[in-house]
Amino acid sequence: MIEASAPAKIILFGEHAVVYSQPAIAVPLSSLRAKARAAANHPPGQGLRLVAPDLGIALEFGKQPALDNPLAEVAQTILSAIGAPPPDVTIQLNSDIPLASGLGSGAAISTVLARVLSAAVSQPFTQERLNEVVYQTEVIHHGTPSGIDNTVIVYEQPVYFVRDLPIETIHIAQPFHLVVADTGIHSPTRIPVGDVRKLYEAEPGKISPILSEIGHLVRQARQAIEGGNIPVLGPLMNRNHALLQQLTVSSPELDRLVAAAINAGALGAKLSGAGRGGNMITLVTSDTVKAVEEALKQTGAARVFATLVGSQDVHH
Ligand code: PMV
Repeated sequence: MIEASAPAKIILFGEHAVVYSQPAIAVPLSSLRAKARAAANHPPGQGLRLVAPDLGIALEFGKQPALDNPLAEVAQTILSAIGAPPPDVTIQLNSDIPLASGLGSGAAISTVLARVLSAAVSQPFTQERLNEVVYQTEVIHHGTPSGIDNTVIVYEQPVYFVRDLPIETIHIAQPFHLVVADTGIHSPTRIPVGDVRKLYEAEPGKISPILSEIGHLVRQARQAIEGGNIPVLGPLMNRNHALLQQLTVSSPELDRLVAAAINAGALGAKLSGAGRGGNMITLVTSDTVKAVEEALKQTGAARVFATLVGSQDVHH
């Protein structure tokens, strides 16, 4: 039996601008995980089977054409990277991470699948190679991912990420409370990412300064996180959200949740991930966490949870 798991992730600052080589900050969310378990087939000779009950998938690899199914395509990409034929195993995939909501479910599932597949053919990936391969699987769904999702999920560390530069992990000097609230609206990443691309190409003179300002506030946020100056992050989140609105990736539902959090006493709030739906995050203290969670539920959030960033146990 071979087992692997990988966390969800939250982008704290810098989504979208990160596609244009600005920095972004993301942290793993170790309490929400994708898991994979591979076991030899009995009787042998059945080939690779992928069973993902949460995704409603039961797949006999080799029987279905790989392009039929996104998970099969991911498995095919991983096997090509290993350079091995499909092993004679059944892989069971499970995930607590909501799909298409900006929490990195796709990258986490690819990560665990790549970990168990490479181990099943006795050629386990190094972390560095795994990160490259998971990036390739992200390309299938997103087109032009920056690489932030695979990096934070594979390494399971807070990262300060700049496209094409060596990975920098960051130290969270002082843990801080976030509440994460889901609009309940599925939003596939590539649509808002493509719309920002169109805006950028139509009006680079208007969009470039927005992207640069996001980069500037990400650098300030890094200093605050590493210096333990948490209250500074609130206004930086609010400004980041306003700039994401200008990039047209917020939505009425996200804006309502952001306003509700601020009204309930949060220090700051913003959408997190690709936007248009998915999740928002809000910075709270131990005194305001309950009131903010309640306000978000009252405002119609589909799912609300609190997390203490910087104190999570890391387990692989
Ligand atoms: O996968 P999501 O929804 O968290 O969005 C990824 C973040 C973007 O910056 C919008 C896209 C990217 O490739 O970095």
